[in-house]
Order: sequence, then structure tokens, then C-alpha cells
Amino acid sequence: MNVSEKLEAIKNEAKERISIIKSMHELNDAKAKYLGKKGMFNDVMKLMKDLPNEEKPMFGKLTNETKQIILKYIEEQRNLIEQAIIQEQLNKETIDVTLPGKKFLLGKKHLMTQIVEEIEDLFVGMGYQIMEGPEIETDENNFEKLNLPKDHPARDMQDTFYITNDTLLRTHTSPVQVRTMLEKGGKEPIKILCPGKVYRRDDDDATHSHQFMQIEGLVVDETTSMAELKGTLLEMANKMFGEGRKIRLRPSYFPFTEPSVEVDISCHNCNGKGCNICKGTGWIEVLGAGMVNNNVLEASGYDSTKYRGFAFGIGVERLAMLKYGINDIRQFYTNDIRFNSQFKK
Ligand code: DAH
Repeated sequence: MNVSEKLEAIKNEAKERISIIKSMHELNDAKAKYLGKKGMFNDVMKLMKDLPNEEKPMFGKLTNETKQIILKYIEEQRNLIEQAIIQEQLNKETIDVTLPGKKFLLGKKHLMTQIVEEIEDLFVGMGYQIMEGPEIETDENNFEKLNLPKDHPARDMQDTFYITNDTLLRTHTSPVQVRTMLEKGGKEPIKILCPGKVYRRDDDDATHSHQFMQIEGLVVDETTSMAELKGTLLEMANKMFGEGRKIRLRPSYFPFTEPSVEVDISCHNCNGKGCNICKGTGWIEVLGAGMVNNNVLEASGYDSTKYRGFAFGIGVERLAMLKYGINDIRQFYTNDIRFNSQFKK
């Protein structure tokens, strides 16, 4: 075989072999095989040595041209392989627009949190400060300083979880009144709202829960009055249950207030005509309140000849149940998403 036949053979073989290569890896091998230092053109060089000198340039040129052609085959094949890789990737990644979409569930605040925040906002707007106290309380703060000494019969109204003889799970948020008055040292006026969890030794049923939520309000200064208490609660009734509500105060008894009242709001459902929510009376009972008992002021360092106060305690679940027509208090604590998600803000 002479040199040009040899070159022609290499070129044809290369064309055929390269055209069926499918991977970059094999293509690089082929490049080394044909064009590398120990490649097939070495054999051609050996044949060239025997050629007469005047023919050498011509064959040198032919050799280079052949190399260029093979290089072109390789590059063309590289393009084809690259495109095939891209195409394969595109096929794999196509988006099926007919697939059903994914639902992203957005969390929202629990109804309890919503109501507490709503009431907080309302009272902060009237100049109240938000205060909190511990859920594990002393007997002294929870009872004694609120005018409920150890043998007082009214303690029976609040079945208590005792931890020791002197500590308990607070049965109401009223001890935050005591804590605040002690903290202020009997000198400064007070205007606070205290939301929090409270505990009672009740059997759970549709209207009772061993743990529930209260919001306590307390105002202490030199001029406050029952009229101011009534105005404040009327404002709350209108904001929480819609404009046009009326309130009515009925005499009641709490050891920590004198006089004490039970507060009713005219029914938001029937507008006072009588329905199943208000049990036909046109009124719904929402909270207890009163003028702070002088004994309570004195026990926490306030001079009752100079200062007076009013206080109120709201049961939050009860308020929410009335507002939204919820008939079982356990709904607030069983975390059923079907219940919780109904109350969107
Ligand atoms: N602490 C009372 C309770 O849990 C509620 C209450 C009534 C609070 C009258 C008050 C109030 O501040 O003045 O039953």
C-alpha cells in the first residue's frame, strides 16, 4: 500500500467508526487513536521516510489535510452527541401541564389567639397595658389577697388543682391584679389587661374545661367609677358583637369586688327578641365585674381612702362560643383542622 492509499484507508475507516460513536468518552478515545502521538498517522510517517525527497512535501500536505478531515468528523460527531444529551435531558424534564397542582396550605392563627388579640387591641386603644402572670400561683395571690381567706365558702366556686398547700394552678387571672398592685407599691394608678390560661378541677363536657382562657381587666386611680366601668364594657360589647349592643348590669357576688355585677349583652343574634342563643331572654351573660373591694386594695398596698378601682373578668371561650355559635368548648382544644380553619382572619 502506498502512502496515498494508506491515507485514504485511514480516512474511510475513521469516517465509518466515528459516525457510530454515541458517547464523549468513546469519542475522546477515537481522537487519540487517530490523531494522538501514538496514533495511526505514525505508520504513515514511517512510509514517508522511503519516499523520494521531491514527493515528500506533497504527501506531507495530503497527510495534514487528512488529519483535518478526521478532526472535522470528530467535531461533527461531538456536536451530534451534545445535542443528543440535551435532547434527552429535555425529554426527561418536560412539564406535564395536565397534572393536578399541589395545594399549599397556609397556616392561620387559632380562633383563641384571634379573639385574645382582638380584645387586646381594643383595650390597648383605650390606654390599657397588657400584663401577664404565672400559671402556677401562690394560694395567697390567687385567694387570700383577693379577700378569700382559707376557710371562705366562696372558694368552693373555684375547684382548685393544688400543687402543695400553698401553691396551685391559678383558678382565674385575678392574681395578676394582686401582682401588679404589689409591684406598683400602692402609689401609681393602674390600667391593665391580663390574658392567660386558668385551671379548674372540672369534668370536661360541652360547657366545662379543666383548662380555659380568661382576660382580666383592672383600673385603679383616684377618680374611677362604676359609670366608667359600664362605659368601658359597652364599648367592648359594640366592638365585639356589632354596633347597637346594649348592656345590663345585674347585682352579683364576688369576694374581690363590692359592689359586684354580672354583665349581660343584648343578644347579637336576635337583637334582643329572644332566640336559642340567648335562651329566649334577649340577653347573654358574658362576664363578671365590679368595684375593687377595699380589702383587696389594702391587702396589696393601696390606700382605699384615696384610691378606688374597677375590675372585670372575661371567659374567652364563652365569648367566642357566643359570637360564632360554637356549641362545644372542647372544639378549642382538640385541634381538629376542619374546625380551626373555619376562622380566617
Ligand atoms: N375571677 C372571676 C372568676 O374567675 C371573674 C371576675 C369577676 C374577675 C369579677 C373580676 C371581677 O375581675 O371583678 O370567676
